[in-house]
Amino acid sequence: MTYQITLQPSGHHYSVAAGEILLEAALDAGFVLPYGCRNGACGSCRARVLEGTVDHGKSQNGALPENARREGYALLCCATAQSDLRIECRELAASSEYPLKIMPCRVQELTKLADDVMLMTLKLPVNERLAFRAGQYIEFMLKGGARRAFSLANAPHDDGFLQLHIRKIDGGSFTGHVFEGMQVKEILRFEGPHGTFHLREESNKPIIFLAGGTGFAPIKSMVEHAIHNQITRPMKFYWGSRNRAGLYMEALAQSWADAHSHIEFIPVLSEAGEGDQWRGRTGLVHQAVLEDHADLAAYQVYACGAPGMIDAARIDFCSRGLPADEFFADAFTFAA
Ligand SMILES: Cc1cc2nc3c(=O)[nH]c(=O)nc-3n(C[C@H](O)[C@H](O)[C@H](O)COP(=O)(O)OP(=O)(O)OC[C@H]3O[C@@H](n4cnc5c(N)ncnc54)[C@H](O)[C@@H]3O)c2cc1C
Ligand code: FES
Repeated sequence: MTYQITLQPSGHHYSVAAGEILLEAALDAGFVLPYGCRNGACGSCRARVLEGTVDHGKSQNGALPENARREGYALLCCATAQSDLRIECRELAASSEYPLKIMPCRVQELTKLADDVMLMTLKLPVNERLAFRAGQYIEFMLKGGARRAFSLANAPHDDGFLQLHIRKIDGGSFTGHVFEGMQVKEILRFEGPHGTFHLREESNKPIIFLAGGTGFAPIKSMVEHAIHNQITRPMKFYWGSRNRAGLYMEALAQSWADAHSHIEFIPVLSEAGEGDQWRGRTGLVHQAVLEDHADLAAYQVYACGAPGMIDAARIDFCSRGLPADEFFADAFTFAA
């Protein structure tokens, strides 16, 4: 059984088999729809079903509450068709420059950046490169079909090795292994590049970058890409952490601001202790943005980190005038 899907307003069509995920079928058909976690948790792929019915699959209530379902919304990374559908959603320009690949890689280096943050450097097979956009992520493909997502921290031009910033999760199976058992030279397999969280280079709006913890990784990739490509839009980078150790590349971020007059760096600690010797900003990082901006209408925002921070920033920034379609985010959700 197959169903016809029509995307609005573009009028693009594609077909899906019964049980096939709507997002995957759209991507396979060459239509790029916004997405992040691909496990029904971040809400990036939310779209409105104008006609027809869907099965919401493993969509999580946080990203798709009951009232949103009643209003016809669906998460396309989880939903399957139960009839022909007409779906209203934003489409992004397709590009053949960044094909999705499955690749083996070797762990080249493991360096602790903080007690709970590891820099993992990956080497690709000889003569292989991963073409990606600054801000995108890869998914490790583990035994038993499990997947774990991590953002690329290196900029696309600096692609001799891939770099990831991996935070240790209490009770986490993969990140626990990274910190406790993993050895240099271990072979992993990943799929990528994934996601639509990347720098929109066609815009010339001033940018606010917002990162919580290892949410720094894709922001680092974007800022280094922007510097490399001589993009001189004003950029303010707010990086939040509980304590100073969590700003594990503070000197690097400060060096961007020192060397480039269009870049500002505003580190913010929420639980600074005496040992931190902190004289900088305190509180929640997205609140610091609100304290500094009465009106966000002219800005573009790129936010990355814990889902709670992303949700709060989206709501509060839009209520300060930020257009909803100028808020780009990757929420660091767990695999379903
Ligand atoms: C697009 C994307 C990009 C990401 N990029 C990065 C990155 O660059 N750096 C980084 O550090 N992290 C990143 N993450 C988060 C990272 O993928 C997770 O931290 C990782 O998958 C955890 O794997 P694990 O096997 O260690 O934990 P798991 O074994 O999957 O689970 C960890 C712990 O969380 C609990 N848990 C599981 N599911 C949930 C849930 N839904 N809610 C609450 N608790 C739960 C489990 O009980 C367990 O204790 C990203 C996530 C996404 C979606
Ligand atoms: S909820 Fe669908 S991509 Fe995150």
